[in-house]
This record gives sequence, structure tokens and C-alpha cells, in this order.
Amino acid sequence: MVRSVKRLTLLLSAVLLGGPPAAAQPLPPTSALAAEAARTLNDPIFPGLGQLGLDVRHYDVALTVAEPGTPGLSGSVTLTLTATRPLAEVRLDFFGPTVTAVRWNGQAVPFRVDGAAQKLIVMPPTPLLPGQEARLSAEYQGTPGVILDPDLDLPVPLGWQSVPGEGPRAGANFTLSEPNGTHTFLPSNDHPSDKATFTTRVTVPQGYAAAASGLEGPVVGGNGPQTFVFTQAQPIPTYALAVHVNRFERVTAPSVPVGVNGSPVVRRDYFPVGTPQGVRTVYARTDEMLRVLSEWFGPYPFGAYGVAVVTPRLPALETATLSTMPPTASERTAVHELAHQWFGNAVTPAGWADVWLSEGFATYAELLWTESQGGDGQAVAARWHDTLARGGTRPLVAVQAGQLFDRSAYQRGALALHALRAATGDVAFRAFLHAYTARFSGSTLTTADFLTFARARTGPAGEAALRPWAESPGLPPLPPSSSSR
Ligand code: TRP
Ligand code: ZN
Repeated sequence: MVRSVKRLTLLLSAVLLGGPPAAAQPLPPTSALAAEAARTLNDPIFPGLGQLGLDVRHYDVALTVAEPGTPGLSGSVTLTLTATRPLAEVRLDFFGPTVTAVRWNGQAVPFRVDGAAQKLIVMPPTPLLPGQEARLSAEYQGTPGVILDPDLDLPVPLGWQSVPGEGPRAGANFTLSEPNGTHTFLPSNDHPSDKATFTTRVTVPQGYAAAASGLEGPVVGGNGPQTFVFTQAQPIPTYALAVHVNRFERVTAPSVPVGVNGSPVVRRDYFPVGTPQGVRTVYARTDEMLRVLSEWFGPYPFGAYGVAVVTPRLPALETATLSTMPPTASERTAVHELAHQWFGNAVTPAGWADVWLSEGFATYAELLWTESQGGDGQAVAARWHDTLARGGTRPLVAVQAGQLFDRSAYQRGALALHALRAATGDVAFRAFLHAYTARFSGSTLTTADFLTFARARTGPAGEAALRPWAESPGLPPLPPSSSSR
């Protein structure tokens, strides 16, 4: 689903076609259409990602993991596509296993793989026109490509992970994709501006279990391999798709009525067999976190929540409905990843430069949780301010990959919200957050959209409180503690 590029798209296609797109109009020559199709989404941080005009609505993903813990993978996926401009080629991000077949509405079609551009390029029988829908299927098998993370110094590449078995520990696989790792295992329009729904089917050997984003369906197959099926019914960005394979204990708890209109949120956590009690305790208060955060943010946006614990010591990631947690995660990290379900997964930055809209809000949730437990929120804010004063800071919109997950995205982003709260008071701040998630859930926005919305909802005083945090090269003063106005 593409929302924010739409106006630009109409403008550009008006230039290209001499008018707004309409089925009756003659198309430009194929070569012009093909050159046009080569345009990416032009993300300032990742200029190669995505295809301009492509709108993936749904991914139906079938993955088979024959030997958990090894990198080998076979996939058979069907994408439901639409376009916002005529596309003579579909150029999916893909840097993965060998592609063996591609079909367009069920018919075999030509394709090629451009390894340097990390694209799977598919030639449909006729250009995909705005208003049309098509099904693109791809089959592939082999080893995912290696994409190094741009910022975090992760000890592993992004995307599809394999953790070999060792002693009593079973081999495992899982996804860890933010920002651009999903296309190591899934041909996709791998950019947050094109959110989509997912059906994920994972086939694993007997004794293993799979988990993925969304609600679990019935398990298919008896003796021998089993297929686990998950439905993610609300659109999410590609990087947020969770897939896990392990020998898991699936621990359920009664659902929590904090969804839209008080609907129940299914609760399940996945712990690798043998996970120590101390690791599990971090998640003992997830239900209370759901209640506290939904009071501040508005209804929980998805049908389920829980964690999947992994064994390597990696940073935690907010994979949709199922956060991916290392054994070392703290309760504070647990709150942070839960908050990302609203901010990041439901309300999504339109581009990577705006990632503070995810990280700032998730970090602010840590302060809100501290306060809900009787702690001193203002002291948390003062520590963030100190960190920025000592370590340096920048305006909120990132201009290079090295800034995506830096302390300005996290702590400065959080302090911007603290400043808005101080300017409006708690009652208006809470109302703002509810209105914000109601307006942008399922969608994407830029920092400019955020400031416009803040001005509309909280007036010039709210916007004035945010501006210096958004734009000043220096560090604005620590906002005061908010009253309960
Ligand atoms: N979004 C994560 C968080 O703060 C941080 C993160 C970014 C990450 N990219 C990652 C974690 C890749 C693990 C892997 O919660
Ligand atoms: Zn985060």
C-alpha cells in the first residue's frame, strides 16, 4: 500500500503521459516505459530500494526450512500487485537464493536477476496499468545474500539468520531485517512506504515449530514436515515481518481486551526449549504493559502480541505482533519493542530519514512505563538530555545511514515528545497520541506531516515546542515535568 508518494506519482505520470493515467490513453513506447520502470523510490538514505509506482498489497509467503540452523531456504511466494503508474517491468528488491520460476497471473514470464542492483526484474506480458491488479509468483531456492547493517555494528548480517545447533541447543532460523534485510529471503518492494498484509506459511521438520507475524492458523501435516500458517491482516512495513524456526515452547495467556473497540489481543510467547526462568520473567508483565501503553497511545493496532526469544546476543527488534528478543533483554527493552507496535509497525515513517518517528516514540514509552510504576519520569528525561549534551546531537531528520539508530533518533526524538507534553499538559498530550494513532495507523507519514498534524491538534504552542527539537542544530533546554492538566 503506497500512500505518500501518490501526489508526486500523479504529477509525474501527467508529465509522462500528457494527462492523468487512464486505461483508454495510448502508452509511451516500451523503451520509455522500461526506463521509467527503473526508477526507485529515491529514499535519500537508501537510494536503490523499491520501485516508484509499484504498490504491493499482499505477500503470500511459503518458506521451507529443511535443516534448521543452516542457511538453506526454499521459497514460493505470490505478491498481489497494483501500480500507481504504468509499469513495463516489475523490479522487486531481492538478494537471495536462486530464482527458478516466475509467473504472472499464473503464466510463466521472462525474468532476470541483477545482482549489483539487488533486483529481481520481471517482464509482464503487458504493462501493469494503474487500476489493474496482478499476481506475481516467484520460486527460489538456495542461500540468502549478505547485507551488512548500515549503522548498528551488528555481529551478523541483516535478514535471514541461521544459528547452528550446539550441544542441547537446536538449530534455529529467524529474520532480523531492519532496515533493508527482508529482501535477503523475500522478493519485495523493500521500503517502509509500501506496507502490505502477509500470509506466511513455514514448513519445518517434525519436532520444530515456526512462528511468524500475525495470528496462527491450524498446523498442516502429521508425521514428517509440518506447515505453520500465520495471517497478518493489518499492513506492516517489510522489515517488520517476523519468521522464526526453532524447538519452541509456545506459552499462551488469556487475551487482553485492549484492541480496537476493546477487542481481545491474543497473547502468546515463544521460548526456545530450555530457556531459563530468569529470561522468561522479563515478559511476566506484558499484559500490564499492554494496558498502560494502550491508555496513552490508543487501542493496540494488531490481533496478537508476544515475543520470540532467540539465543544469540543481538539487539531486540520490534517484529510485528511478535518482537524478537535476545536472552539479555531487560524489561525496559520489552516496553520499547511493544511500543514499536504502534509506532513503527502501525504508524510507519514514510522513509528512512524519518525513523525517529519510530525510535523517539518507542523510547518515550520507557519513560511512560517508569512513571506508571511509580518511578521518576523527569529523571529519565534529564538523563537523556545529559547523554545528548555530552555526546552531541543533530536535528531529527537523518541525512545519512550512520544516523538511523543513533541517540538523536532515540533520546532527542523522545525529548521532543516530552516537550510537546510539557507544552500541552497530560490530558491534551494523551488526546493527541490517541488522535495520531487513529489517523495514521495502517499508513505512513513524514516528519513534516507529523508537525502539521501536531499543529492542527495542539495548536501553535504544541508546534512551537516541537520545532527546535526537530530543526535546531544544537540541544534545546530540558523540558520541565508536565502537570496533570
Ligand atoms: N528498531 C530496533 C529497536 O530499537 C533497533 C534496530 C534497528 C535493530 N535495526 C536493527 C535491532 C536490526 C536488531 C537488528 O528496537
Ligand atoms: Zn526502537
